[in-house]
Amino acid sequence: MKTVLVTGGAGYIGCNVVRSLASKGYTPVVYDNLSGGFRDFVSDFELIIGDIGNYDLVCETLKSYSIDCVMNFASFIAVGESCNYPLKYYDNNASKTITLLKAMTDCGVNKFIFSSTAAVYGTPLEVPITENSPLKPESPYGRTKLMVENILSDLSRSQDFRYMALRYFNAAGAVPDGTIGESHIPETHLIPLVLRAALDPDYVITIFGEDYPTKDGTCIRDYIHVTDLADAHVLALEKLFDGSESSIYNLGNGTGFSVKEVIDSAKKITGKDFSIKSGPRRDGDPAILVASSDKAHSELGWVPQYPDIDNIVSSAWNWEKQKKRKGY
Ligand SMILES: NC(=O)c1ccc[n+]([C@@H]2O[C@H](COP(=O)([O-])OP(=O)(O)OC[C@H]3O[C@@H](n4cnc5c(N)ncnc54)[C@H](O)[C@@H]3O)[C@@H](O)[C@H]2O)c1
Repeated sequence: MKTVLVTGGAGYIGCNVVRSLASKGYTPVVYDNLSGGFRDFVSDFELIIGDIGNYDLVCETLKSYSIDCVMNFASFIAVGESCNYPLKYYDNNASKTITLLKAMTDCGVNKFIFSSTAAVYGTPLEVPITENSPLKPESPYGRTKLMVENILSDLSRSQDFRYMALRYFNAAGAVPDGTIGESHIPETHLIPLVLRAALDPDYVITIFGEDYPTKDGTCIRDYIHVTDLADAHVLALEKLFDGSESSIYNLGNGTGFSVKEVIDSAKKITGKDFSIKSGPRRDGDPAILVASSDKAHSELGWVPQYPDIDNIVSSAWNWEKQKKRKGY
């Protein structure tokens, strides 16, 4: 059975992928510096506490666990913060990933799955966005991800090294029983913030821009359930192990929901009516980001099981209600 090193595996998406890997018979080994992740998210799994920039520790881990493939979720993820602290992002997301890749190639591990992002596209010329749409990231965060994609492309051309870059749209939701879910500090994602407003009367959710050329004036995004994302990673891994060439896949539902629609869904699911305030548009926030995931459907055989926004919000609500009590 194959062993997979899941770097950044104690974070929101990584810990869901760890569970999917284990359920399919793989042995996941988590490697995380816990800068944004939680030990308790992976308490049932092997965890190495370390930084992907630590070449010696990565090499030692790759060798001692006989790792067959690395899945890298380790990065900083806040677009706004990346604009204020670009070096922090270039260092962690790009430089340290180079160290990780160097350790892999030096230790003979030649398969890699990379968490990329819809942010590599910037403001799209048309939607839905395909993998061939122009790549014009508008933030240091998006640029770090595109840099790594380019490095992977060069590396795979230069030697026996294959990868899958998975460009996620908006990851959301939680495992259905709500035991594991999203917890970013600070939180910048819409669904957990809306649910915070439902729980905390002192917290008021802001809609940034209500004059976009969309059906209700608010931004439209493509929300993909984290369990569906996790399934796509296992399918991509199996394709790599089957000998497939390197490839890039969008992972989204192909359906967009506006900020107001997400708020309406949250009000319905939670049964709470909470306050909302209007704010100005934010720089680099395109009106509509919706994926075409046709390539992932046809080549990976990926079929999202939880595309319904109420379902996504409902699972996130189950998590959000327990989160504070659990200390996240
Ligand atoms: N959440 C989304 O909607 C979304 C969308 C597109 C892409 N992504 C990408 O998916 C990946 C996972 O995102 P997430 O939402 O789970 O974030 P997260 O912050 O919950 O998880 C990231 C994990 O990486 C770890 N980490 C960060 N830097 C590290 C380093 N140098 N060495 C070791 N560990 C390190 C953190 O401790 C954390 O556990 C990220 O690469 C992110 O860019 C996320």
